[in-house]
Amino acid sequence: MTKDAIKEEYLQLAATVREHVEEQLQLGLFEAEITETEQKSQYADLNLTALDADAQSCVKCGLHQGRNTVVFGVGNPDADLMFVGEAPGADEDRQGEPFVGRAGQLLTRIIEAMQLTRDDVYIANVLKCRPPDNRNPAPDEVETCSPYLLRQIELIQPKVIVTLGNFSAKMLLDTKTGITALRGKFYEYAYAKQDAHVPVVMPTYHPAYLLRNPNAKKDVWEDMQQVMTYLEQN
Ligand code: URA
Ligand code: URA
Repeated sequence: MTKDAIKEEYLQLAATVREHVEEQLQLGLFEAEITETEQKSQYADLNLTALDADAQSCVKCGLHQGRNTVVFGVGNPDADLMFVGEAPGADEDRQGEPFVGRAGQLLTRIIEAMQLTRDDVYIANVLKCRPPDNRNPAPDEVETCSPYLLRQIELIQPKVIVTLGNFSAKMLLDTKTGITALRGKFYEYAYAKQDAHVPVVMPTYHPAYLLRNPNAKKDVWEDMQQVMTYLEQN
């Protein structure tokens, strides 16, 4: 085939694909995907303060009806280390700050054992509002709320994200694998933007799980030692 013939064939193919796409767009078949992409980047213009302010008045899912506060996140906006839990509990909902109840106090001790303070790191949850009776987050709530967390991660640019428990690990790694199989190893963050710095993710057990299963504390401590070594070297 001559160069011109190849080019001609390529142009025809491109035209066919474009027609096909336009037809599907008219039929609305691409709508779901486009909405998802838009939703993931809907806060792209907001800095951390503006994002927080946006979240404070959020009514995008049903959880706003039962909340006392929106629990956006706390800590150092330039943190190298970020902790991500599941959702606020009763104490967090009352105080507007993540991880301040019993599980939170254990997390604070873990952070201090790493020779850090809560002010050195950044702490947030997948959901910013408390699910009633501490039930699990519903899929539509995660879908609606997770763009806040993804934008927080994009702005803070941590080197390491420690996910606490099943929920945040599955979300940030985009996996169905459970925490027991995942924990103790580093993974690549699933939602890194092209050309952006890619955090590593260390899934570990949730401190609430540690309160019920103190024997698992040594596993978490091993995971945190790996994180400390990584932070020293990167
Ligand atoms: N559990 C979580 O996952 N997050 C909190 O903020 C408190 C308890
Ligand atoms: N099961 C959970 O749901 N969370 C943990 O952190 C560990 C086991």
